[in-house]
Amino acid sequence: MKPVVIYCSQTGHTERYARWIAEDIGCDAIAYKNRNAVDLADFDTVIFGSWFHAASIPGAKWLKRQIAAHPEKRFVLFATGASPMPEQGGSSVEIEEAVRRTFPEAEYPDLPWFYMRGGFSMDKLGALDRTMMKVFFSRTEKLAGSDPGIAVMDREMKAGFDGTERAFIAPLLDCVRGAGE
Ligand SMILES: Cc1cc2nc3c(=O)[nH]c(=O)nc-3n(C[C@H](O)[C@H](O)[C@H](O)COP(=O)(O)O)c2cc1C
Repeated sequence: MKPVVIYCSQTGHTERYARWIAEDIGCDAIAYKNRNAVDLADFDTVIFGSWFHAASIPGAKWLKRQIAAHPEKRFVLFATGASPMPEQGGSSVEIEEAVRRTFPEAEYPDLPWFYMRGGFSMDKLGALDRTMMKVFFSRTEKLAGSDPGIAVMDREMKAGFDGTERAFIAPLLDCVRGAGE
C-alpha cells in the first residue's frame, strides 16, 4: 500500500487529524495548498480530509476530479466539524446528510467516509467566515432560550473549543488497513 494524506484545514483541527493518520500509517500529510506538488501516480490510496463549511466541504471539487481521473485508486474521505459525533450525542443523520450533500450516495457509493469532531476557534477564521459565524450566532442566540442543545453549542462555539482526540481516527485506520472492509 502506498498511501498519502491530503488535507484542507483553516484553523488546524483537520490538520491535526491528518498528521495523526499519516504518522500511524507511515506516510506524508500534504496541505491542500501544496497538492499540485504531489503526483498522485506515486500513490494507490488517497486519504482526503477537510471540514464542514455550512453546506460545503472545502476541496471537494478537487477530490471529485481526482476520483474521476483515477478510478484505479482507493480514496477515503474524512471530515471534521464542530458538531458532536454520534457517540457524543450528535445526530448521525445530520452528519451523513452533510457528507451526502456533497458526495451523494448514488454517485459515490464506494467512497468510505468518516466524521471526527474538530473544534472551533473564531480568532483563527478568515474575515468572511467570521462574518458568516456572526450571522450564525445571531440565530443560535435567539434559539438558545428554547433549545438546550443549541444553548450548549452557542456557548461552546463562542468560547472556542478543541474536540480533537487521537482515538477518533481508529475506524479510518481500520478501513485503510483493510480491517474495516
Ligand atoms: C463558516 C463556517 C461554517 C461551518 N459550518 C459547520 C457545519 O455546517 N457543521 C459543523 O459541524 N461544523 C461547521 N463549522 C465548524 C468547522 O467545521 C470546524 O471548526 C472544523 O473543525 C474546522 O476545521 P479546521 O480547524 O481544520 O479548519 C463551520 C465553521 C465555519 C467557520
